[in-house]
Amino acid sequence: MRFSFSGICTLMLAAATLAGLPGSLNAADTPVAALQLPPLPYAQDALAPFVSAKTMGFHYGKHHQGYVDNLNKLVAGTPFAGRPLEEIIRGTANLPDKTAIFNNAAQVWNHTFFWQSMKANGGGRPAGRLLEMILDAFGTFEAFKTAFETAGVGQFGSGWVWLVQDGGKVKIVKTANADTPLAHGQNALLTCDVWEHAYYLDYQNRRKDFVTTFLEHLANWDFAASRLK
Ligand SMILES: [Fe+2]
Repeated sequence: MRFSFSGICTLMLAAATLAGLPGSLNAADTPVAALQLPPLPYAQDALAPFVSAKTMGFHYGKHHQGYVDNLNKLVAGTPFAGRPLEEIIRGTANLPDKTAIFNNAAQVWNHTFFWQSMKANGGGRPAGRLLEMILDAFGTFEAFKTAFETAGVGQFGSGWVWLVQDGGKVKIVKTANADTPLAHGQNALLTCDVWEHAYYLDYQNRRKDFVTTFLEHLANWDFAASRLK
């Protein structure tokens, strides 16, 4: 099944309730587009046993939802209210007084991307042009896997490990906290969340086991290939 990431990220107009009678409409009554938590592309237990339904319940239902709720509160009454998510991220990156908005917006985007980066019966290898680009960059697919695991384990504290397209090549990058390739002009292809909340219930402190499992059983290479430009 193929999903349009940009489509899922598009802000959906909330069913805003207009207060008052029709004659009272003014700027304050204008419906404001609120970000909605995008639906998961699969059931919460679809990735078990590699990611348990309990982890998904907390990670998607609490953490991802929390970023959505925080973002809506933070942008209310600002020029960012009702703007597309990617515009908010690009418009707040590297602005010290907009850090809270950036962090929550980027975490909404990163998590939506992470869900798309996984599927039941995933893992294995990509095919076609993406495989050729990985082999061109890393020599062998095993070398790519090792480099991805090393980057994931080597991200100190919370963050993300990504396969990105940068120019005509693919490469692995890691980002701290909420930082995202979107803020660096890179085209994200695949990501693994290495915040502890992503794996602690299932893997405790064994982050490497989680990243290895992501590559061997969960990675959605069809999604990654669909992102190539
Ligand atoms: Fe997360």
